[in-house]
Amino acid sequence: MNLDQQARAILRGNDKGGYTVPTHGLYPYQWNWDSAFAAWGFSTFDVPRAWDELDTLMASQWSDGMVPHIIFHQDDPGYFPGPDVWNTGQTPPTSGISQPPVAATMARQIWEVDRDAGEARMRALFPKLLKWHRWWHEFRCTHGPAAITHPWESGRDNCPDWDKGMEGVDGSGVGEYTRRDTGHVDASMRPKKEEYDRYITMVQFGVKVGWDQARIVAEGPFLMADPGITFILLRGHEDLAVMGRALGEDVSEIEGWTHQLRNALPLIWNPELRAYDAKNLLTGEFAGVLGSGAFMAYLADASNPELDAELLRVWDAVNYGIPSADPEASIFDPRRYWRGPSWPFANALMAIGLRDAGRDDLEERLRRETAALIEAHGFYEYFDPIDMTPCGGADFTWTAAIWLTWAGKDVAETHQKGAA
Ligand code: GLC
Repeated sequence: MNLDQQARAILRGNDKGGYTVPTHGLYPYQWNWDSAFAAWGFSTFDVPRAWDELDTLMASQWSDGMVPHIIFHQDDPGYFPGPDVWNTGQTPPTSGISQPPVAATMARQIWEVDRDAGEARMRALFPKLLKWHRWWHEFRCTHGPAAITHPWESGRDNCPDWDKGMEGVDGSGVGEYTRRDTGHVDASMRPKKEEYDRYITMVQFGVKVGWDQARIVAEGPFLMADPGITFILLRGHEDLAVMGRALGEDVSEIEGWTHQLRNALPLIWNPELRAYDAKNLLTGEFAGVLGSGAFMAYLADASNPELDAELLRVWDAVNYGIPSADPEASIFDPRRYWRGPSWPFANALMAIGLRDAGRDDLEERLRRETAALIEAHGFYEYFDPIDMTPCGGADFTWTAAIWLTWAGKDVAETHQKGAA
């Protein structure tokens, strides 16, 4: 099987019927932004299945508009924290936080494959996406930029951006629990125990206030502005507005949100870092570390020469893709999850931004480096950006998806020619 065929087989193999698991074992449920990428991948060979993926995701939208980060379609004792810990009272059970709103951007990619065929599907999805974007403004953009109430909400779980906010969370009263992630992959590649105690404490707070999102923002132990989500949301608004206009919908509310978010960008620009930076909204303090969320700025037409220089500095310090943390900072750890590794799907997202910013040279470099990782080792969750060591779960859905949509494009053509 060539890599295209392998990638399609991974998507089919991780398909549980209407939704796709990120990988078997480690992540046995439906994850929000993974699903959006899965849909993008399916759109290269089965467009109706791509729309189904987004429909299944949006079907678990809460009445307040939130689209949860995990949907627990069926019980799996191999995962912690499961539905009993989150205890959100939803059917099917879900977690109580959200994840980066890439669904509108991925919906647009699918819609662009065949606008006519996609019109009815998009028309059904539009009000749900609109409601979710409204939720972000009502419950997460209360201080201007998009904020997160739990590091997992950022999708970049243990990246250094959240260290300052995590220090303020007292994890000492968490009680006994057994992690499952370290039973699937090497503990040195996963978050540490002190971090996990705090993660679970934050979940326990949500349960205590009955997942009242306004109370979680106002009284919870953790609240940080996330540049990554801020830019993804801005980009999502733009994509939603384009589709809305084509459908004849009124998009003035979306335009208003875009305006508000753009006005908030100076609040997350850290002049000392010469980059966008996460900020602890409980103390007003910047994170003070350059994380990959800053480079999502390219997605939202919000880059500038200083950020360009920082991007090249961190990128030139490694060999394969854009690292998830600054290789020149003391916290850099090339195999520990979001503290250094190169993530193929995140590279693909940044590539959309680079391409739209007219940086075709950088997009092509990123594509070549990402493809090299997959060609050498297969469809892993993430990789050591210096020596290519594959890390985390194997046969990963979004890695396969971005191979089909982006990383493998030229390479696949070459392979096909070679085979002919
Ligand atoms: C981890 C990642 C998150 C992803 C999930 C499933 O929690 O940090 O971004 O959605 O795994 O792949």
